[in-house]
Amino acid sequence: MSPQRKNLPQREEAAEEPAADAGEAEAAAEEPAAEDATADEPAAEEGESAEHAAEGADEGHAEAEGGGHGGGHIEDIDFSFEGPFGKYDQFQLQRGLQVYTEVCSACHGMKFVPIRTLHDEGGPGLPEDQVRAYAANMTIIDKETGEERPRLPTDHFPAVTGDGMGPDLSLMAKARAGFHGPYGTGISQFFNGIGGPEYIHAILTGYTGEEIEQAGTVLYENTAFSTGSIGMPPPLSEDLVTYEDGTPATVDQMATDVAAFLMWTAEPKLMDRKQVGLVSVLFLIVLTALLYLTNKRLWAPHKGKKLDT
Ligand code: HEC
Repeated sequence: MSPQRKNLPQREEAAEEPAADAGEAEAAAEEPAAEDATADEPAAEEGESAEHAAEGADEGHAEAEGGGHGGGHIEDIDFSFEGPFGKYDQFQLQRGLQVYTEVCSACHGMKFVPIRTLHDEGGPGLPEDQVRAYAANMTIIDKETGEERPRLPTDHFPAVTGDGMGPDLSLMAKARAGFHGPYGTGISQFFNGIGGPEYIHAILTGYTGEEIEQAGTVLYENTAFSTGSIGMPPPLSEDLVTYEDGTPATVDQMATDVAAFLMWTAEPKLMDRKQVGLVSVLFLIVLTALLYLTNKRLWAPHKGKKLDT
């Protein structure tokens, strides 16, 4: 584990602290401490063997493997939308949209996301005229006329394909898991969530700066990627975007914002779902109380009677 960690400039502090002194860490830091343990244990057992790195590559996502390159350390992030009452942070989604638009959209499409949803309450909540202007910045070949025209809010984000382009990001936050431990059982997901947004954040911040040439293509060493090196050049650098709300655009901040945004694109109804869940549970609690009282009432006349024999 340690040789990888040395190369992680932004995460070094955060990763080291909870591991070194879990007792002292504040509440927020406790979960990463638990995650640390799950990530570290298998690594310690299996050693840093190269075979495991290779196995991790086959597996696809190798945190479960622990050791080797594949065992990317993925940190838990306290996203606003986590937990039973979690909500998306509208301003964070807007910042994430900005990062996606200015950086990621060059290589990644989002073909499942209708542009009009940017107006949705609970989402980025852009005013309608801004959504229209945003859509008009992108073009589409009209299905009926066969001609190019500006996109409308009812169109989807473009699909981006071709050489050097990355996979569609619409559902990426639900397609990847950040937490697999301990020992690949996935139990940590009960406490930390599936970890899709954490995975995206970890990919974006996990570059070590090393480049590896393999069969004519350049790969970039990345501690979070399953194979240890990824075909995506490091997309973020300090102050790459300028946030309107004055939030400092550190790599960590941009990665967190775009990860939250991609969680929203993958699960736009998250808040509705939680609300329905909460109402259902409250309803069941009331129903339980009523049924209990009904049961008592029905049996009251028969309680304490002697059986005739
Ligand atoms: C220069 C083009 C380029 C840019 C810009 C870019 N990516 Fe990528 N991305 C790629 C390529 C290529 C891959 C596939 C890499 C591979 O499979 O080795 C990829 C893969 C990914 C993956 C998938 C990792 C996996 O587990 O399969 C994620 C997530 C991702 N990119 C997120 C982003 C985000 C978020 C941004 C914007 C901050 C971004 N990318 C910007 C080219 C790019």
